[in-house]
Amino acid sequence: MISSKVGSPVTGDDFFDRESEQRDVWEFLRGDDLLLLAPRRVGKTSLMLRLRDTAHKHQLEAAYISVAGAEDEPAFVRKLCEGVSGLDASSDVLRHLKKGKLARWLKRIKKVSVAQIGLELGPGSPWEDVGAQLVEALDREGGRRLILVDEVPVFVLSLLRQDSSGARARKFLTWFRELRQHPDRQGRLRWLLAGSIGLDTVAARLHLGDTINDLYVVRLGPFDRETARTFLVSLGLAHDFSMSAGVVEHFLDRVGWLIPYHLQLLFRELRSRCTDQSSPPDIEAVDAVFEDLVSPSKRAYFDYWRQRLHEELGQPDAERAITLLNAVAKDPEGTSREVLEQQLSESISDADERVDGLRYLLDVLESDGYLVETGKRHRFRSPLLREFWLRRVAP
Ligand SMILES: Nc1ncnc2c1ncn2[C@@H]1O[C@H](COP(=O)(O)OP(=O)(O)O)[C@@H](O)[C@H]1O
Ligand SMILES: [Mg+2]
Repeated sequence: MISSKVGSPVTGDDFFDRESEQRDVWEFLRGDDLLLLAPRRVGKTSLMLRLRDTAHKHQLEAAYISVAGAEDEPAFVRKLCEGVSGLDASSDVLRHLKKGKLARWLKRIKKVSVAQIGLELGPGSPWEDVGAQLVEALDREGGRRLILVDEVPVFVLSLLRQDSSGARARKFLTWFRELRQHPDRQGRLRWLLAGSIGLDTVAARLHLGDTINDLYVVRLGPFDRETARTFLVSLGLAHDFSMSAGVVEHFLDRVGWLIPYHLQLLFRELRSRCTDQSSPPDIEAVDAVFEDLVSPSKRAYFDYWRQRLHEELGQPDAERAITLLNAVAKDPEGTSREVLEQQLSESISDADERVDGLRYLLDVLESDGYLVETGKRHRFRSPLLREFWLRRVAP
C-alpha cells in the first residue's frame, strides 16, 4: 500500500503511476539515448529509480548514479565507476580494463576492483581513458545495459563556474558524447541523462548544442488532474483519512501545479492538522494549510527554490533571476516581456545584451519550473511558490 513521503525519492509501493512515461521511455530507449528534463521536484529521480528497478523486465541491467556532488571530471568518472561496480558485468569489465591501455596505470593499484579504480581517480589521473574503457567494456560484454545519470546539468554548470570561457564544459561534453556515440560501439549500452535546469538551454547558450544532440529529449510534467485525484484518494485510503469530493477538488485547485511533491506536502500537512477524526477535513482546513505552508516557520520547503538559483546560475545571473521573479510575483496574471526587460536595465545597460540575457533567464526559469508563459505573459507556475516568493523574498 502507498504511504505518504515528502522529500526523498519514492520507490516500490510508494511510487505512484507514471505508467505512460515508463512505457515511452522503454520504447524510446530501443533506438536512442535519452535526456529526461523536468523542473525540480517533479519526480525525475523517483522515475529513474523505478526504471532501474524494473529494467530486468526489459532485458536490461541498469545502474543509477547522481553526479550532483561531483566537483570535477575525475569525480564524474568516479561516480561512473561506482555505478558500474554494482553491475553483474563488473568483473568482466575489470578484466577488459586490465588488458587495455590502462594496464600499466592499473598495476599501481593493489586490490583492483572497478570501485577501487574510481577511488584512485584524483586530479591529473587518466579519467578520460578510464571512462572510455569502462564504456567500451560494457559495450563489448554480452547483455544490454542502461546507465541512468542524474543531475547532469548541475555538474556541467559547476564546470562552467570553474571556467567561465566554457572551454572545459565543452571538452567534457564532447568527451561524454564520444563515449555514447563512438563509431565502434555495438549499441548494447544505453544512457538516460537527467536534470532540472534545462541542459538544452545551457548548451545552446554556450553553443554546445552539438554535444548533446544525439539525445532524444523526454519531458516529465505534473500529474494530470485525474491522476492527481486518484493519487490523493489513494493516499487518503492508505492513511485512513477520508476527504470529501469537494475537499479533494478544492485541494487540487489550490495546489494548481499538480506535481506529486506538492500533493504529498499538502496531504501530510492536512493530515497533521486534522488529527481529530470527529472533524473531517473541510475547505477551511485546506486553506489554512496553504497559508501555513508559506509562513516563515515552513520556509525551508520553498527557500530551496531561491538558494538553488545561486548554486546553479552563480552571479550575476542569480541576482538577475531574482529581480525578474520579484517582478512576476507581484501580479497573479503575470508580467509582460517589456516590463521584465526594464527590470534588467540597471544590471545590463546594452540593449542587445539585455534582450539576450532576458531570453536566457526566462528559458532557464521556465524549464526549471519557476515560470510559465501564457498569452505573452510570464507568471509563476505554482501558486504556492508565488505566494512564498511574494511574502518571503520579494521586497
Ligand atoms: N511517482 C511518484 N509517486 C509518489 N510521489 C512522488 C512521485 N514522484 C515524486 N513524488 C514526490 O515528489 C518528491 C520529489 O521527487 P523526486 O523524484 O526527488 O523529484 P526530482 O528528482 O524531480 O526532484 C518525492 O519526495 C515524493 O514526495
Ligand atoms: Mg532528483
